[in-house]
Amino acid sequence: MATSIIIDTDPGQDDAVALLLALGSPLDVVAITVVAGNVPLNLTVRNALVVCDVARRPEVPVYAGAGGPLEGALVTAEYVHGPTGLDGYELPDPTRQASVGFAPDRIVELVMSHPPGEITLCTLGPLTNVALALRQDPAIAGRLGGIVMMGGGFFEGGNTTPAAEFNIFVDPVAAAEVFRSGIDIVMMPLDVTHKVLSNSARVDAFKQLGNHAGEVVAGWIGFFDRFDREKYGTEGAPLHDPCVIAYLLEPDLFSGRYCNVEIETVSPLTKGMTVVDWWRVTDRPPNAHVMRDVDADGFFALLTRTVGLL
Ligand code: RIB
Ligand code: CA
Repeated sequence: MATSIIIDTDPGQDDAVALLLALGSPLDVVAITVVAGNVPLNLTVRNALVVCDVARRPEVPVYAGAGGPLEGALVTAEYVHGPTGLDGYELPDPTRQASVGFAPDRIVELVMSHPPGEITLCTLGPLTNVALALRQDPAIAGRLGGIVMMGGGFFEGGNTTPAAEFNIFVDPVAAAEVFRSGIDIVMMPLDVTHKVLSNSARVDAFKQLGNHAGEVVAGWIGFFDRFDREKYGTEGAPLHDPCVIAYLLEPDLFSGRYCNVEIETVSPLTKGMTVVDWWRVTDRPPNAHVMRDVDADGFFALLTRTVGLL
């Protein structure tokens, strides 16, 4: 995968940690594109700008995108992320406005103006912006280096319905179009993200960094993990979205299988389900590298080390 990336995101504390991991790493963050998801678009845009201020990266463009799914009404997750979407650490308002341009348009322009294969798209939220970009210019499918996405679940089931994970549930039609696009996809489903759980020692490690970003991350995780601790009875919360960036930095932390993934877009019972043919019981062609295992200690070591550089 190339080291120039566009991050499409719906911050959300775990998105915010993923953004800090990317901004503190050697990755070239060409742009951040924002979508409605965890909270409405006005807040996800604000939160993305706030994270850039925490990282002291005012030069990274932030483009606002879709305010809701391709079809149906927006579903948000304030019950997990709090009313602002970035609860857990009090931060000042952003020092700048969003950059001019509609995110799907900017995705097309940036991908088509860079050499083939150079840009990798990292998606941390619903796939609406990506589907709109593909509808605008299908040629981006052949020009992207690939997509690394957080979303879906199979053995782990769903976290929003018994069958559906949030990012896919919010916009299953967009997800279906992206998974049928032919783009090389690396998928980080709940099956792997539920194996990178925060805990008190891991949160303390951020506090012990002694820098502002470490304090902020500890605050975000400390807020974010209350919901999953209560729901799953675990000591901490899964850091879903940072898995996407960690994969680009240290792919050997993860392991999985290349298999077919289809998205249920119709059934009221299973809408948003990612149907993963892990055991290859159909003749449907593989279209995604589905990750299932991760070195959690190695993941948190990478994350803590990088946040310490901000
Ligand atoms: O289901 C987890 C995903 O939904 C994460 O990306 C989280 O930020 C929310 O967007
Ligand atoms: Ca997200």
